[in-house]
Amino acid sequence: MANASQIWVNMPPYLLRLSLLIAFSLFAHSASGQNALHIPETMEGPVYTLTMAPSSHQFFDGVQTDTYGFNGSYLGPTLILHKGEAVQMHVANQIAEPTTVHWHGMHVASEDDGGPHSIIQPGTVWQPDFTVLDNATTFWYHPHLHERTGEHVYRGLAGMIIVRNPVESQLSLSRTYGVDDIPVVIQDWQFDDQRQLIFRQGGAGQRGNTMVVNGTLEPQATLGANVNRLRLLNGSNSRVYMLGLSDNNVFHMIGSDGGLLEAPVQLQRLRLAPGERAEVLIDLAGRSGETLTLMSYSSELTRGEPGGVPQANDPPTPPGSIDGTDFSVLQLVVVDPVTSAIQGIPQTLVTVEELPESTADRVRPMRLDTAGPGPGAPLAINGAVFNMNVINEVVNLGDTEIWEIDNVRGGPHPFYIHDVQFQILDRGGEPPPPEESGWKDVVLVYPGERVRFITQFLDFADPDTPYMYHCHLLGHEDDGMMGAFLVIDPAATSITYSDLPET
Ligand code: C2O
Ligand code: CU
Repeated sequence: MANASQIWVNMPPYLLRLSLLIAFSLFAHSASGQNALHIPETMEGPVYTLTMAPSSHQFFDGVQTDTYGFNGSYLGPTLILHKGEAVQMHVANQIAEPTTVHWHGMHVASEDDGGPHSIIQPGTVWQPDFTVLDNATTFWYHPHLHERTGEHVYRGLAGMIIVRNPVESQLSLSRTYGVDDIPVVIQDWQFDDQRQLIFRQGGAGQRGNTMVVNGTLEPQATLGANVNRLRLLNGSNSRVYMLGLSDNNVFHMIGSDGGLLEAPVQLQRLRLAPGERAEVLIDLAGRSGETLTLMSYSSELTRGEPGGVPQANDPPTPPGSIDGTDFSVLQLVVVDPVTSAIQGIPQTLVTVEELPESTADRVRPMRLDTAGPGPGAPLAINGAVFNMNVINEVVNLGDTEIWEIDNVRGGPHPFYIHDVQFQILDRGGEPPPPEESGWKDVVLVYPGERVRFITQFLDFADPDTPYMYHCHLLGHEDDGMMGAFLVIDPAATSITYSDLPET
């Protein structure tokens, strides 16, 4: 009787290749369980058409999971924008309830910003237009309806935005989308026995135990043995990640939320809070044939971060929780270099014009606390829980401000401000680390810590429509850990913000 190896030997070559292919794909699917990373398609302007609708997708063999998506069954296309370009958005709402869509990080007028006041009723289309004023970076878009943001994002309504500009285009950086410039939207889901998404309102927000990148479970990206650029976005409702490579090699952070850094920052670990983005370069030269893993070393998150090591007073973690453990985010399979790929990490990137503290017109305190004494009091900012009809702060057009964020209650909160990018002046009295020294729109503020940032409100006065600032843990945001600010032109006469429509 022929043994297995004889069967292989006696097989005609074409059959051998076929069998190996079948054997390999069976192995690839059943043994390692990895799935090729989904790369969202791109959409180029100047007209962008997005339709939000309920859908379903087969994440598990033979089962449809109910989802929401933009133009598809989950997440949305990657919008490619060019600085200086005038764009027209068409955002159709086909889900059965009102929602909004916010261009997270972008510097646009408040009426185009997609905050909770810019409601898109079901069956209608919202059509903001604006000029792209931002420098090259990675932004994202997601719903922002008050009390519903968490669920809408979690069920699949999120997409990436890539802004390009001539300064970035002249740098020796990987920028072939999906080839050596990879969108990495990191989220965590939880499924029930029917393989449907579990969503629970409340607390910091839903945390899952199943990692998804671009909506792919057990994702695997195939990368050339060259320099690769990953655009990391923490699109999770309430999980902080501590990213690192399984071989403990360094990677090079080149961009933070609002743009490129002055020079690449060499890191072994990168903490990424909900809403934050980071662009990193990974040099895989000479490593064809290897497999490594982008991990979250969440056992190193020991300061109360959501998704980190549970603290003494935390409620017990649910069975199967990955909080505080080290887990795989994205497997990286290295193949031969891509032709014309970039080799080497640039020495310098861009000039980040520093905003000197002496130029500030005022200091604005932001106290992250509860709305009152007692254990049941809701989280609030400056004592106020978000109210659709209240303006919490008024900023004068043209001013430079220092915002002083004091976290006096609860765990770490990722503080996010619409409209502007800021520069961190200090964190707990210390200058920010290099990876936080560029333009930012989200900053994780630890309990007992004061973070001060400086920013300028140079455009877009509007006495009617406010911008938001809030905690980007979507459970906290939906519970009202959010405030509204107007930018007004002090030279203009009438201020009508008391006439905000009742909702
Ligand atoms: Cu990314 Cu106001 O949210
Ligand atoms: Cu919070």
